[in-house]
Amino acid sequence: MNLILLGPPGAGKGTQAKRLEQTRGLVQLATGDMLRAAVASGSELGREVKAIMESGALVPDAIIIDMIAERIGQPDCQNGFILDGFPRTVPQAEALDAMLAARGRNLDHVILIEVDEDALVDRISGRFTCQNCGASYHDRYKRPRIEGVCDVCGSRDLVHRADDRMEAVKTRFAAYRNQTAPILPYYEDRGILRRVDGMAEIDAVTRQIEAILADRLEGR
Ligand code: AP5
Repeated sequence: MNLILLGPPGAGKGTQAKRLEQTRGLVQLATGDMLRAAVASGSELGREVKAIMESGALVPDAIIIDMIAERIGQPDCQNGFILDGFPRTVPQAEALDAMLAARGRNLDHVILIEVDEDALVDRISGRFTCQNCGASYHDRYKRPRIEGVCDVCGSRDLVHRADDRMEAVKTRFAAYRNQTAPILPYYEDRGILRRVDGMAEIDAVTRQIEAILADRLEGR
């Protein structure tokens, strides 16, 4: 099964993708995480995208498309993947179709996580992540079991993201409205776009997504 999780910054795409990865054995392909890993490694790609990401703007399509094309060809993606943060522009959506067609593969679902903008600001401003494994937490909604220690890997390296500053967040919302929202009709017209209420609690959002995936398995 191949899925896309769509939604504005802070909607919960990463949170839900990690859960599906565990419960469904699908591979999470998060372009933001891949780019942050490149920045942390100091690679040429990382140096190229660092300032763009910190500003909240989108990285050029050509870079992202190459990154995903290389990744979905790897053996661990053969059983299915969850795209988290890709596609984000119409050219990326078109490039994804071409990549999948070339491999004889399909998109099963595009799931849009809908959240009000006020709630998104609240979520992003409270978010912190583990530098070591990428696990995501929140000051109020999802604290680690032991204060200051990652539940997943035990690291104490928990940090706020550079692009979660208010100035960059405004740019990220604008990029979502102007460049990403226009891809919704692209999938809606094909009848594969499903919407979930991302204002609900994390577990309730997971249940909505699971219901969509179960519908598919039962052919509804
Ligand atoms: P990316 O890393 O993809 O960031 P984003 O889309 O802005 O999404 P976030 O990671 O901020 O949010 P999320 O929806 O995953 O929410 P999360 O689960 O963390 O991209 C970063 C940058 O990389 C971009 O700005 C761009 O520069 C570049 N980039 C990446 N992909 C690109 C592409 N395809 N093209 C061009 N450039 C690209 O949840 C947020 C918080 O809320 C967490 O604290 C979580 O615990 C909490 N939370 C989650 N769900 C709930 C809930 N239901 N109720 C309460 N709290 C919740």
